Amino acid sequence: MNRNEFRNEPFTDFSLPANADAMRQALRLAAGQLGRTYPLVIDGEPVYTGRVAASIDPGSLSRTIGLVAQADVATAGKAMAAAKRAFDTWRFVAPDVRAGYLFKAAALMRRRKFEYAAWLVYEVGKNWSEADADVAEAIDFLEFYGREAIRLGAPQPLTPVAGEDNRLTYIPLGVGVVISPWNFPLAIMAGMTAAAIVSGNTVLLKPASTSPVIAAKFAGLMAETGLPAGVLNFVPGAGSEIGDYLVDHPLTRFVSFTGSRDVGLRIHKRLGVTHPGQLWIKRFIAEMGGKDAVVVDSSADPEEAATAIVQSAFGYQGQKCSAGSRAILHRDVYDEVLKRVIAKTEALRVGPPEHNADIGPVIDSKAYHKILDYIEIGKGEGRLVAGGAKAEGDGYYIAPTVFADVTEDSRIMHEEIFGPVLAVCKAESFEHAVDIFNNTEYGLTGAVFSNDRGHLEYARDRMHCGNLYFNRKCTGALVGVHPFGGFHMSGTDSKAGGRDYLLLFTQAKVVSERW
Ligand code: SER
Repeated sequence: MNRNEFRNEPFTDFSLPANADAMRQALRLAAGQLGRTYPLVIDGEPVYTGRVAASIDPGSLSRTIGLVAQADVATAGKAMAAAKRAFDTWRFVAPDVRAGYLFKAAALMRRRKFEYAAWLVYEVGKNWSEADADVAEAIDFLEFYGREAIRLGAPQPLTPVAGEDNRLTYIPLGVGVVISPWNFPLAIMAGMTAAAIVSGNTVLLKPASTSPVIAAKFAGLMAETGLPAGVLNFVPGAGSEIGDYLVDHPLTRFVSFTGSRDVGLRIHKRLGVTHPGQLWIKRFIAEMGGKDAVVVDSSADPEEAATAIVQSAFGYQGQKCSAGSRAILHRDVYDEVLKRVIAKTEALRVGPPEHNADIGPVIDSKAYHKILDYIEIGKGEGRLVAGGAKAEGDGYYIAPTVFADVTEDSRIMHEEIFGPVLAVCKAESFEHAVDIFNNTEYGLTGAVFSNDRGHLEYARDRMHCGNLYFNRKCTGALVGVHPFGGFHMSGTDSKAGGRDYLLLFTQAKVVSERW
């Protein structure tokens, strides 16, 4: 790829036999490597702590994806010290040199696209397209943030003044803790980590406990690029054991977090406490939940709207913060759109991700039971019109579920379920639909289907969310195209994949020399 020009990594077309064969081959290869043990990486060295946690395939519970060494407070402390030492040199490495590591990583990942996708299929239950999109987004983040670091490393515009040389540079913050999610366990994990290190920071990466193997592979990939020791330290471990320690540590300069609202708010609170030896106000970069919705106007095409509702609600089993877990339909098209949503939901095949079923498992036992509990709640709040129960299989399979006639104030219209459950609500007017849309504590994504220009403009101004889409689904933001992040309890509106993002990992220094 031309260094000057960012272009999104294309998605793989699995209808082409060559691509489908390559994917099957990658799945076979990965299957032969399951169950291996992965160490921590501290200061460039593998560290086995004597304790491992198993990563289990949520779609085939007897399958262990890998055993991952677990950090305790003592090893996390060593990682912190290593990151601090590495920062003293890494911060002076020129931005274009730092970017070079990301470009190399992107090139290696592109070469091994199917391999990475196969690991995502096994470790977190993504079907082929969802896994491929995750890999493509990871490559995009590496390519995009590399270019952004170079852009921010160039001389920045300042107002000239006679007799003075003024320069503004974006310098790094220090040691950062990256706490990454399992639902985009490659893309978001790699994006958060790459953004931090390409800006000149050093990192302790604590991946989600359900997706540590893909993160270990990324840590290995970064080591392959020749990244200096201590810049990226890989410290998987239980949040209950090392989470608070990392967040509270006086050397922690910032925390970059993607995960649930409750955990995010807890971290935010702890970051507000100043510990002995701490010289700074800790920075928090957070991407949390969503209760996103697709709004359908009376002027909309019912077929297009229904297709987008089903894709938004059930892509990766609804386990996206961008998932459209609410559909708000104008009364004039309610029955028509609902009928199509039901038919399309019932047509979805539930089954193992490795066979590329439309709907795979949810991530773990906790999520499974929580979602099934919400389905019971939904039965009391709406009319069950599709799914409504667990599905067959040796894993955490749940039938895609639709509740109709749900009222605006019901729990399933407000609480993030993070699973394949859609609540459908009737609006009396377009304005009413927008009010229902905004009646949530979140504000991440939304979509509107309408052919009425006035209504689209009304929505543009009044639908309060970080990523609003017209006449398309509300998932699938592309790096550079749709900078991604939300309002209210969805986070700090840190626009991942946007041109403001790296600024969150830097501080501006101005040096003025009198001539
Ligand atoms: N960026 C993803 C999407 O847009 C969610 O994290 O679907």
